Amino acid sequence: MNDVLNSAPMFTALDAEAAAALRNSMDEVRLRKGTILFREGDAGDRLYVITDGKIKLGQTAPDGRESLLAILGPGEMFGELSLFDPGPRTATAAALTDTTLMGLGHQALRPWLAGRPGVSEALLRSLAQRLRRTNDQMADLVFSDVPGRVAKTLLELGEKFGEPLPDGLHVTHDMTQEELAQLVGASRETVNKALADFAARSWIRLEPRSVVLLDRDRLERRSR
Ligand code: CMP
Repeated sequence: MNDVLNSAPMFTALDAEAAAALRNSMDEVRLRKGTILFREGDAGDRLYVITDGKIKLGQTAPDGRESLLAILGPGEMFGELSLFDPGPRTATAAALTDTTLMGLGHQALRPWLAGRPGVSEALLRSLAQRLRRTNDQMADLVFSDVPGRVAKTLLELGEKFGEPLPDGLHVTHDMTQEELAQLVGASRETVNKALADFAARSWIRLEPRSVVLLDRDRLERRSR
C-alpha cells in the first residue's frame, strides 16, 4: 500500500523519512461499493488518496441529469480544490467498487506546503495536468463526435486500469453502461451504438463492467 501512496503527488517530492511522517497524519477510510464519501456543495476539509479501488467524481445538473468528471484509481488524489480555494466541494465522490482511501486534513497539509516547496510544486503539477485533461475534454465535446469520444475514453481507461493479456488489453472499469455514457457526455443509446459498432468491427469485446481492447491502433485513429 505504501508504494501506491508514494506515487500520489504530495509524496513524490519526499524522502522516506518525510513520507513516513506525512503518512502518520493520514487516516484510512474504507468504503463499500456505492457509498457516497461527500457530495457536491458539502463543506470540505480533507483530501484523499486512493490506495485500492475506484472513485467516481460526478456532478448533477439542476434538472437531475448526472455527468461524470473522472474515474480515479490507486495513487490518485482528489478533494484538494477546497484546500487551495476554500469553498464547497465541486463534485460528488462515490465508491465505484469497495475502496480504501487515505484521508489528510487540509490543516495537517499546510505546514508541508509552507516548509517543502517540492510538495507544493508536485500538487501544482497535478492540478496543471488536470486542467490540461479538462481542456482536452472540452475541445472533444465541441469538435469530436460521440464514437470518437467513446474511443478516446476507452483508451484513457485502458491506460489507467488496463491489464495486458495475450488477446488484448483487459480494462475492468466497473461502470454500468449508463455511467460510461455519463463519462463520455452523451446519451446511453448513442454510446451503446458506438460500442456495438466497435465490437462488430472487432476493435473491442464487451463484457459486463469491463471491455477488452483488441485493436488499439484503430481506436486511436477513431479518437482523433
Ligand atoms: P473538491 O472540490 O474539494 O472535491 C471534489 C474533487 O473532485 C475536487 O476537489 C477535485 O479533487 C476533484 N475534481 C474536480 N473536478 C475534476 C476534474 N475535472 N477532473 C478530475 N478531478 C476533479
